[in-house]
Amino acid sequence: MGERKELQLGSEELERQKEVMLRIRENNSIDYQRSGNHKYYHVITFGCQQNVSDSEKLMGMLDEMGYLKAEKKEDADVIIINTCTVRENAELKLYGNIGAFKQLKADKPDMLLCICGCMMEQEHAVKTIKQKYKHVDLVFGTHNLYKFPELLERSMNEMYTLIDIMNTEGIIVEDMPVRREDKFKAWVTIMYGCNNFCSYCIVPHVRGRERSRMPENIINEIKHLAADGCKEVTLLGQNVNSYGKDLELDVDFADLLRMVNEIDGIDRIRFMTSHPKDISDKLIATMAECSKVCEQLHLPFQAGSNRVLKAMNRKYTKEDYLEKVEKVKKVMPGIALSTDVIVGFPGETDEDFEETLNIMRKVEFDQAFMFIYSKRPGTPAERMENQVSEDQKHRNFEKLVKVQNEISKRANDGYMGKAVEVLVEGPSKNDPSRYTGRSRTGKVVNFSGKRDIIGKLVNVKITEVFSWFLNGEMLDDKNID
Ligand code: SAH
Ligand code: SF4
Ligand code: F3S
Repeated sequence: MGERKELQLGSEELERQKEVMLRIRENNSIDYQRSGNHKYYHVITFGCQQNVSDSEKLMGMLDEMGYLKAEKKEDADVIIINTCTVRENAELKLYGNIGAFKQLKADKPDMLLCICGCMMEQEHAVKTIKQKYKHVDLVFGTHNLYKFPELLERSMNEMYTLIDIMNTEGIIVEDMPVRREDKFKAWVTIMYGCNNFCSYCIVPHVRGRERSRMPENIINEIKHLAADGCKEVTLLGQNVNSYGKDLELDVDFADLLRMVNEIDGIDRIRFMTSHPKDISDKLIATMAECSKVCEQLHLPFQAGSNRVLKAMNRKYTKEDYLEKVEKVKKVMPGIALSTDVIVGFPGETDEDFEETLNIMRKVEFDQAFMFIYSKRPGTPAERMENQVSEDQKHRNFEKLVKVQNEISKRANDGYMGKAVEVLVEGPSKNDPSRYTGRSRTGKVVNFSGKRDIIGKLVNVKITEVFSWFLNGEMLDDKNID
């Protein structure tokens, strides 16, 4: 069977990389005995949670190789920039960043500068780096992340930029080391890639087709996390609702949710991202029935006009979307909904845009991530005629942000005087004498507490509301008996 072969390949690869990691660790240790200096790394991450999760793996490998984490890039011996290419400004930001490292590399020639991530899966970007940024030591992509130890070792002995981009996808390497910054909540990737090919989007081109992890590997990982004290998991994928479709097993995303819901020690389950076309009645019912699944759903609608949705290749209508939202709201009262919206897709008129505003007003999302359409090379939308003028895009974008800000504030106003359950993450950044955490609906709540409550669930009464967070007073500590 296909996936058995993949797994086997995966474990052979892991053994190979483990050997390299051990070798580098020994070298670093000898170096330390001689010089008294540790070796340090610094990882800079752009883009979405997928990249954050990949960076956690890279840091896990670096820890394993005996490097220590440096807060400042100037102190690092290995620097990794994990790139994003979803919109053009993400690319521009990267070039600015690499340029700024030229002096650092000149001052510290032994420092290794590595660039990886989604943007490196595009030929034009790799070519630019090769030609214009010769101080870069190593370039690798999203499909060969697991090969990082071997590539790092090779690049130590290379004069020129070492480039290793793998065009074949498919190997899922399990049990790679991971460095997670949060003790009480964790991101768990359940699938890689995307099959949807929305006409504006570069993600399927740089992340490949959908590949689901085997359910037992996901469950084992979460059981280990729970044993280490983790309380909340967010299941991650570009379209988690299509989990399992590529496996020769009778398991879908709703089944997976039920399995995770059974794991002792885990109190909360979140997931993202969901595609509206794949939200089934079974999934909606499962969300409501599983007590640990939080009242929060990120459901991007992208545009309100059916004509634009069709041109975007989203495979649902405005009516389908609104119907699904109604169903979700009905079975999970008080659910916090969030969304992604694009303004200025080719051919979008002011009338089409009004329909986007109508959806925003009708659904009343707690939060919306709003984007100005950006042309991505190689996508069908890039070649569409009637691209929208910059002026129209910006005018409508500002209108949208204004409408949503009022809605977000109103959604938070509804919390005034209510008690919410908070998972306490640590001291509040602005006032370390207070604590901070999140409600089940994902709201940031700051409050004053009494005892050592970090990592516990407490009830907090909301006394003040703002657009982006809530303030409150602790009522009790649910976990202290
Ligand atoms: N898989 C997720 C998220 C992918 S990228 C999903 O389907 O929802 C995150 C968001 O970036 C998308 O939801 C979309 O709103 C936005 N986006 C993607 N490509 C874009 C482009 N070319 N221009 C502007 N926004 C874009
Ligand atoms: Fe991009 Fe669409 Fe896939 Fe999301 S579902 S990653 S927007 S192609
Ligand atoms: Fe960017 Fe790649 Fe995520 S392109 S948005 S980091 S999947």
